[in-house]
Amino acid sequence: MTELLEVRNITAGYGSGPAILEGAHLTVKPGKIHCIIGPNGAGKSTLLKAICGMLHIRQGEVIFKGERLNGLRPDQILRRGICFVPQERALFAKMTVRENLRMGGYILGDSAEVDRRVDAVMDRFPILRERSGQHAGTMSGGQQQTLAMARTMILKPDIVMLDEPSLGLAPKIVREMFEIMKVLAAEGITILLVEQNAVMGLKNSDWGVVLDLGRTLFEGPAEQILADPRIQELYLGANRAA
Ligand SMILES: Nc1ncnc2c1ncn2[C@@H]1O[C@H](COP(=O)(O)OP(=O)(O)O)[C@@H](O)[C@H]1O
Ligand SMILES: [Mg+2]
Repeated sequence: MTELLEVRNITAGYGSGPAILEGAHLTVKPGKIHCIIGPNGAGKSTLLKAICGMLHIRQGEVIFKGERLNGLRPDQILRRGICFVPQERALFAKMTVRENLRMGGYILGDSAEVDRRVDAVMDRFPILRERSGQHAGTMSGGQQQTLAMARTMILKPDIVMLDEPSLGLAPKIVREMFEIMKVLAAEGITILLVEQNAVMGLKNSDWGVVLDLGRTLFEGPAEQILADPRIQELYLGANRAA
């Protein structure tokens, strides 16, 4: 299968600080769910930030649909179809659900079109229509994460990157978040997610990437990673019962 996005052995760090990523690579296939796992501090969040243009890439390349993204600004990368939901979700707490969804489409510059898309997203996530007048900051963690994920659909991106969408959520709600990812994937939106609970993340994904000390150690089909005794021992042990 052809790759939608390719990260080729990148080196990147914050400002003029030390390299955090060194030898990070991954391939992203259209329509699939991809999961990056690895210990705390491995550079998972840094990798997502480097892909979306928030971090200068010192070496290596990021290739999206055949185009080199190195050096583009975050808004330019967003316009090309890569949407990033950071760990802190970046919702506007004092704006309503509807206003948050509309903000998701501001770069379209077409208010009527944004309204149509907001309506379509609300059709798909009735809870958001129900809560459309509520301030985002007053919703539960699960509802906020639903809003953050649903908001990405307004732009109809090719790729949505999610940094630990399950963080702090109860297990039942986490299952709902994975269901939403499957809804996005069924719409043709490719998912690249970082997940702290490696076993759970891989079980819900097609493709897995093991990152440690800023470097990709392994990538391949998720079931292959789950079944690999060495990876189990090093990276899946603590979560084996999950
Ligand atoms: N804004 C930042 N400025 C400088 N260093 C950072 C910043 N954010 C993260 N780091 C460093 O980058 C390394 C990797 O962090 P991160 O990508 O957040 O790891 P992970 O998401 O895998 O837990 C850590 O050593 C962390 O201290
Ligand atoms: Mg992180």
